[in-house]
Amino acid sequence: MDSKKHPFRRSQAWFGRDDRDGFVHRSWIKNQGYPHDELDGRPVIGICNTWSELTPCNGHFREIAEFVKRGVYEAGGFPLEFPVMSLGETQLRPTAMLFRNLASMDVEESIRGNPIDGVVLLMGCDKTTPSLMMGAASCDLPTIGVSGGPMLNGKFRGKDIGSGTGVWQMSEMVRAGEMTQEDFTEAESCMHRSKGSCMTMGTASTMASMVEALGMSLPENAAIPAADTRRNRLAQMSGRRIVEMVKEDLRMSQILTREAFENAIRTNAAIGGSTNAVIHLIAIAGRMGIKLNLDDWDRLGAEVPCLLNLQPSGKYLMEDFYYAGGLPAVLREIKPILHLNALTANGKTLGENIEKAPCYNRDVIMTPEAPFMKDAGIAVLRGNLAPDGAVIKPSAASAHLLQHRGRAVVFEDIEDFHARIDTDDLDIDEHCIMVLKNCGPKGYPGMAEVGNMPLPPKILQKGITDMVRISDGRMSGTAYGTVVLHTSPEAAAGGPLALVQNGDMIELDVAGRRIHLEVTDEELARRRLNWKPPVHPTRGYQKIYVDHVQQAHLGADLDFLVGGSGALVPRDSH
Ligand code: FES
Repeated sequence: MDSKKHPFRRSQAWFGRDDRDGFVHRSWIKNQGYPHDELDGRPVIGICNTWSELTPCNGHFREIAEFVKRGVYEAGGFPLEFPVMSLGETQLRPTAMLFRNLASMDVEESIRGNPIDGVVLLMGCDKTTPSLMMGAASCDLPTIGVSGGPMLNGKFRGKDIGSGTGVWQMSEMVRAGEMTQEDFTEAESCMHRSKGSCMTMGTASTMASMVEALGMSLPENAAIPAADTRRNRLAQMSGRRIVEMVKEDLRMSQILTREAFENAIRTNAAIGGSTNAVIHLIAIAGRMGIKLNLDDWDRLGAEVPCLLNLQPSGKYLMEDFYYAGGLPAVLREIKPILHLNALTANGKTLGENIEKAPCYNRDVIMTPEAPFMKDAGIAVLRGNLAPDGAVIKPSAASAHLLQHRGRAVVFEDIEDFHARIDTDDLDIDEHCIMVLKNCGPKGYPGMAEVGNMPLPPKILQKGITDMVRISDGRMSGTAYGTVVLHTSPEAAAGGPLALVQNGDMIELDVAGRRIHLEVTDEELARRRLNWKPPVHPTRGYQKIYVDHVQQAHLGADLDFLVGGSGALVPRDSH
C-alpha cells in the first residue's frame, strides 16, 4: 500500500499492510466492488445507521445515508455504512428505554472494532439519539451527528395536530365522550403523513436540539423537516465535514466539554424541551467522564425563559420552528447565558455559528424580554418522598397545581392502574394526587413513559384536564400535565415511594423545590418492615440491566458502561 500518500490513520492498521491480514481486510471489502485505491489511506468514515422499518421515524435513513456518502466522497473519504440496533419508540415492548444502554454497547463496539477513522451518527427517534451519542462518546473518535428531521405538521380537518400531544388530547376526548371512535381512527393517518420523527417538541426534537446545542452537528440540524430537501443537503455537508474533522483529529472530547453540556441544559429550558433530556444528557456526560447532576439542571436551567411557542406546551410545530429560524435563532436570543467559545463540529465556535441567526416569526420564537413562559426550565424536587430527586417540567404543568396538597390515590404498578382507573368505585376527586409505583429503571423494567397517567373518566367528564401525578417513571416529551417524574430512588429499589399508601397526604411545592409525604419517619420505618422487593428477571439482557442499571438521577446507564475505553484495539482478529 502507498502509505506515504496520506498520514497514518487508524483504518490503516487494517488496510495499510502488506501481510496476510492486510490481504484479508482488503479483499473481503472489495467483494462490494470497491477499487484498490479506496483503501489507500484516505479517511474511512463509518456511517452508523439506525434505519429500520420497525423504527418508522428512522425509515428514511437509507436515503440520508446516500447523501452523507456523496459528501464523504466529495471530500476524499471512503464511506462504509453499518447498521446498529434501532429503537422504535412506538413499537418496542416493554419500553424502548430498556434497550438504550444495550444499543449504546452495540454502537460502541461496532465503532471500536472496525477500521473506521471518523463516524457519522444517523439519529432520529427518541432513544436512537442518546444511544448513539453514548456509544460513540465511549470511543472518542471524530464524530458528527445528523438527525433525521421532524415530520411535516399533522393536518386533521383544517387544524394542525402534533405527534403524541394530539393523541393524548384526543384519547381523553374519546374517554370523556367528546369524540367518536371513527374520528379518532381517521386522525391516525392525518397526524403522521410524511417521513421523519415526532413534529412536536417531544423527546426526538429535544434530543436533536441537544445535539446541535452541544455542538455535535452542523447548525440547523434540529429543525429542518425530514421531507425538506435541505435535510439531505445538511447530510451531504456533514459527510464532507467529517472527512475534514478526521484530518483535524477533532474528537468528541474536544466538543463535549462541561461548557457544552451547560449550553445544552440552558437550551433545553429555552425550547421547553423534554424531561427525558435530563436522563440522556447525564448519561452522555458520564461517558465523557463529566459529572453532570440534577442540581446542574436546576441551577443552570430553572430560571431560563421558554422562548418557543411549540407543542406540547404551546401552539406550533417543528415545521413552523424551522421556518421561523430554527435553533440558531433561539440560541442567539439566549447568547448572554451561553458559553460562546464552545467548539462545534464545523470547527467554529457556537458564538460564531449564531452571530447572524435571524428570526422570521416572533409568534413562534419569542424573546427573553417577552418570552412564551418565564422560569421554564426543569425543576428538581427533593424531600422525604424523593431523597435523590425528582423532576417536573413547569412549562407543561398547570400553574394552579404547582403548589398543591392532596390525598394520595396509589397504584402499585401499571397493571393495577389499568385495572382500576376506569372503574366507578375508584375513590378519587380532582384534588387527589395520583401515585404510580414500580415504573422506574428496575421496576418496569426500563423506566417506561407512563408517568403522565390518563385521568379517570369521572374527572374528565367534569371538564378537569389535569391533576398532580407522581411516579418513578418518565413521560413522553410530547406529553403535558402537572407530573412529577423520575422519583429517585425508585419504588422497586426500596425508595420511599414504595411506602406510600392510599389516603396519605402529599405536599407538592415547586417554588420551594419540595415533595413531601406527610407520614412520620417512625411510620415509614414500620411500613418498610413489611415491604417486599419485586421479583426481577432472572436471565438474558433484562437480568444484566436490572442488576446494573443506575437510578434515574445518575442517568440510568449501566454502572459498568460509565466512562469510555477509547478506540484502540491492539490485538488482531486472525
Ligand atoms: Fe419516534 Fe416520536 S415516536 S420520534
